[in-house]
Amino acid sequence: MKQDNILVLDLGSSENTTIARWIRELGVYSEIHAHDITAQNIQDLKTVKGIILNGGVNNIVDGEAIDVLDEIYNLNIPVISVEHPSTQAAQTLDKWPNEEETKSFLKEFVFDTCKAEANWNMKNFVEDQIALIRQQVGNKKVLLALSGGVDSSVVAALLIKAIGKQLVCVHVNHGLMRKNESEGVIAMFEKDLEENLVYVNASERFLGKLKGVSEPEEKRKIIGNEFIRVFEEEARKQDGIDFLAQGTIYPDIVESGTKTHSVVKSHHNVGGLPDDLQFELVEPLFQLFKDEVRACGVELGLPHDMVYRQPFPGPGLGVRVLGEIEPERLEAVRESDAILREEFALAGLDQKVWQYFTVVPNFKSVGVRNNERTYEYPVIIRAVNTIDAMTASIEQIEWPILIKITDRIINEVKHVNRVCYDLSPKPGGTIEWE
Ligand code: XMP
Repeated sequence: MKQDNILVLDLGSSENTTIARWIRELGVYSEIHAHDITAQNIQDLKTVKGIILNGGVNNIVDGEAIDVLDEIYNLNIPVISVEHPSTQAAQTLDKWPNEEETKSFLKEFVFDTCKAEANWNMKNFVEDQIALIRQQVGNKKVLLALSGGVDSSVVAALLIKAIGKQLVCVHVNHGLMRKNESEGVIAMFEKDLEENLVYVNASERFLGKLKGVSEPEEKRKIIGNEFIRVFEEEARKQDGIDFLAQGTIYPDIVESGTKTHSVVKSHHNVGGLPDDLQFELVEPLFQLFKDEVRACGVELGLPHDMVYRQPFPGPGLGVRVLGEIEPERLEAVRESDAILREEFALAGLDQKVWQYFTVVPNFKSVGVRNNERTYEYPVIIRAVNTIDAMTASIEQIEWPILIKITDRIINEVKHVNRVCYDLSPKPGGTIEWE
C-alpha cells in the first residue's frame, strides 16, 4: 500500500466524516470504521499509523454503551480517545475543541505522534485500489452495473485498468433513465468493452413491479432488488462470475444507517440488496466523498464532461415521480428534465450547479389554456450546490432563466400546467424528493 492511514472508529460521534476529511486535507488518508473492528482487520489494512476513538451521543446501541475491542490497544499503534472514556488510550479529550484547535491537534497527532506521511493523493489511491482489486478478484470475473453516472463510470474505468476483460458491464435500462441516457452510456463505453458491455432493456419489467406502489422506501427497495435479480440473470448467462462491483460511496453508507446512525433513506446500492445475494462485492470507492470520486475520475483520464456531469440516483426518475409511478407523470418528468438541462447548458449553469432536475408530484391543480379550464400536474424545479451531498444549498437562479424554462415546460410538456421552484436546503429537505 502506498498511503498511510489514520482510522477514525465510530463510537457514536456525528463528526466522523468531518474529522476524516480534515485529516485527508492534511494529505493523509483516513478511513472511518465501525467501533468493533478487530485487531486482525486493522493489521490487514497494513498501513494504519494511528487510531482515533471518536465518541459521541449515539454511543448507545440496542440499549448498551458500545466500546472498542481491548485487543486494538496491543497493536503498537497510537490511540487517542475523544468524548469516550478509555483508560488505555495514550491521550483523551473530553470533546473536540473549535475548528482551528481541532485541526492543529490533528496535525500534531498525525505527523508527530503517528509519524504518518502526507502521501494521500489520487495517483496513490488509484494504484492502491488497482492492487487491492487484483488481490481480491484474482483471475475471476466481475459484473458491474454501469448506470452511466459518475460513480459507476469511475468504477468501470478503474476496473478496466485493473482487470481489463475480466470485467463485464451490464447497463440496465429500468425505464427510469433520463432522455437519451442509455444511448449515451453505450456510446461512451462500447469501444473499451466491446462484447463485455451488455445492454438490457428491462423497462416493462420494472414498471410492472412498481405498479400500485407509492411508498418511497418500498419503491427504492423494489428497484434495488429488481436490479440485483436482473444482474443475477445476466451473470447466469456469463461463465463464472463471482463478484459484483458497485459505485457505493461514503455518503451512501452513512445515509443507509451505520451501527450508530439510523436510516435516513435506503440508497439503492446498499439497503436494497436481497439476503440471498450470490456475489461477493467489490466497492473500490466506498471510502470516498463525491468530490474525491471526481478527482479519481480525472486521474483515470475520463473526459471532463463525464466526470463533472451531475450525479443521478440509482432509482433514477423513479424517485422524482412522487408516489405511484404513472406513465403520464414519468413522461412529464423526463421531458421537463430534458428542457431544464438544455436551458441550463445554454445559460452556462451546467458548469456551475452541482445537481438540477425536475420532480412531478401526485396531485393536480386547476389552470387555464386557450380560455379552457385545465386540471393538470405541476413540475417542481430543484437546483442545488454541495461539496459532498451531506448538506446542500439552493442555487439562486436569475428570474429570466427560470421564466424561460417555465414557459417551455408549460408549452412543451404534456399534462403540466404549473412550474414551481424548490427553495429548501438540506437539511430541511434531502436533495431528492423521495
Ligand atoms: P439525498 O436525496 O439523499 O441525495 O440528499 C444525495 C445525493 O445522492 C443521490 N442519490 C442516490 N444515489 N443511489 C445513488 O447512487 C440512490 O439510491 C440515491 N438516492 C439519492 C442524489 O441524487 C444526490 O445527489
